[in-house]
Amino acid sequence: MSLARPIVLGNWKMNGLAGDSAARTEALKELAGASLTGTLGIFPPATLLDRARGWVEGSPILLGAQDCHAKPSGAFTGDLAAPMLREIGATAVIVGHSERRQYHAEGDATVRAKAEAALEAGLLAVICIGETEAEYLAGETLDRLATQLEGSLPDASDAARVVVAYEPVWAIGTGRTPTSEEIARAHGFIRDKLKARFADGGAFGILYGGSVKAENAEEILAVDDVDGALVGGASLDAEGFWAIYKAGIAPGA
Ligand code: PGA
Repeated sequence: MSLARPIVLGNWKMNGLAGDSAARTEALKELAGASLTGTLGIFPPATLLDRARGWVEGSPILLGAQDCHAKPSGAFTGDLAAPMLREIGATAVIVGHSERRQYHAEGDATVRAKAEAALEAGLLAVICIGETEAEYLAGETLDRLATQLEGSLPDASDAARVVVAYEPVWAIGTGRTPTSEEIARAHGFIRDKLKARFADGGAFGILYGGSVKAENAEEILAVDDVDGALVGGASLDAEGFWAIYKAGIAPGA
């Protein structure tokens, strides 16, 4: 079974100390109430996961981590293994974020190994792909997406355990977004590739990420094959983040 739509996930990145994070999560918990028709998740820094498990207790908010190592244990100073994240209360993990690909030189093979480790540990894998600005300007977006999809997604992927996030690198944290037509084209392409490779490819959640805010969420989330959003900066404000989630609820749902 795939995740309930909209799927709106907040990547806090390297932001948050206990005090402000508790207040933000409490505010979001109040807005979310006891149940949701869609999927709402937060991805705090690993240092907060233990506490955050308590903060979201009794609420439908999903708790995830921002990255994991490909191995379940070993001599990897500073890294965190997927089973450790699972044990501390995370049920999902982001892998292949462009900031990891860029600043930690992670290629598709590494991302795929991490995603496999996540699945092995029972975590939902949120696998990020997206073209750079140079690739976008050269008209190479779809080629790049094809390569990343092929290289980063484990063969064992299915709609219940893997979500794909399309995040153009040039749209992350910049305030710039592709047009709705460009997003539709990329998401339609990703959908076709998923359908060609996986029996339930039509059911995978495909998220758009990159400068999603309350102001543009309705337009972006209404695009075909956009099942939700991966939100960075705007997820640091509970009201704004909630407004993005609400914008993804289909009229009448
Ligand atoms: P942004 O980040 O919303 O701040 O652009 C998105 C992301 O990196 O997931």
